[in-house]
Amino acid sequence: MAPLLELRSISASYGRIQALSGVSLSVPEGEIVSLLGANGAGKTTTLNVVSRLVPVTVGSVLFDGTAIERWAPHKVVGHGVVQVPEGREIFHDMSVRENLLMGAYRRTDANAAASDFERVLEYFPVLRERLRQKAGTLSGGEQQMLLIARALMARPRLVLLDEPSLGLSPRLVQQIFDIVRRLNREERLTILLVEQNASVALAVSSYAYILENGEIAIEGPSEQLRADDTVRKTYLGN
Ligand SMILES: Nc1ncnc2c1ncn2[C@@H]1O[C@H](COP(=O)(O)OP(=O)(O)O)[C@@H](O)[C@H]1O
Ligand SMILES: [Mg+2]
Repeated sequence: MAPLLELRSISASYGRIQALSGVSLSVPEGEIVSLLGANGAGKTTTLNVVSRLVPVTVGSVLFDGTAIERWAPHKVVGHGVVQVPEGREIFHDMSVRENLLMGAYRRTDANAAASDFERVLEYFPVLRERLRQKAGTLSGGEQQMLLIARALMARPRLVLLDEPSLGLSPRLVQQIFDIVRRLNREERLTILLVEQNASVALAVSSYAYILENGEIAIEGPSEQLRADDTVRKTYLGN
C-alpha cells in the first residue's frame, strides 16, 4: 500500500542556507514514524515543508498519492495535515475549552465535533478539569497536552508533532508519550514525530530517520536502531 505521506528527494533553503538536501522519507497510514536529529539538523524545516510553510526547491511531497508541494498551506490543512508546532503556541488569554474549539474551527459537522470534544478529553483528563481556566495558566506539560488535543479536534489524517518532550520533566514526557501511543493504537492516528529525545521516540515509533545537517544519515525500523551500536553511542548516550 502507498504511504500516507512521502517525501521524495526534498531540498529546501532559507536564502543561501541550504537546510535540507535530498531528504526522502515515508509515513505509512496508521503508524508513528520518528524524525530524529540534533538541534539545527533540519527536523522542523522538514515538517514546515509538508505544511507548505517553507518552499521546496527540489523534490516532491506526496500526501495520499497526490503531489502537494505547490499547494497553499490552508489547502494542506484542509486535507487533514495538522502540525503541532514546537514552542507551545497556544492562545494564552483564552480558556482551555476555547483553545480546543479553535482546533475544530474549519469543521462544519458540529455534532461530530462535539462528540470528538468528549472523546479527546478522555485522553486528557487533566484538561477536562481545567476547561474554564485560561490556557496561559497551565503548566508546560499541560500546555503541550492542550496543543495535541487541539490538533485532534481537527480530526486529522496526519499529525506533524514537533518536539513534544521539549523542556518537560521525564515523568511528563512519559505521560505524554503514553497518550501518543494510545492515540496511535486506539484511534489509528498517523504521526510524523520529530524529537531530539531519541530514546522516547524510538520506543513509540515503528520506523525512524535520523537527520544530520539536512540529510538522512541513518534510517530503519525503530527497534533495529535502538539496538544499533552507533545509534546507541551517538543518539542514545549509552
Ligand atoms: N527562518 C529561518 N531562517 C534562516 N535559517 C533558518 C530558519 N529556520 C531554520 N534555519 C536554519 O536551518 C537549519 C535547520 O533548522 P531547523 O529545521 O529548525 O532544525 P531543527 O528543527 O532540527 O532544530 C538550521 O541551520 C537553522 O539555523
Ligand atoms: Mg526544530
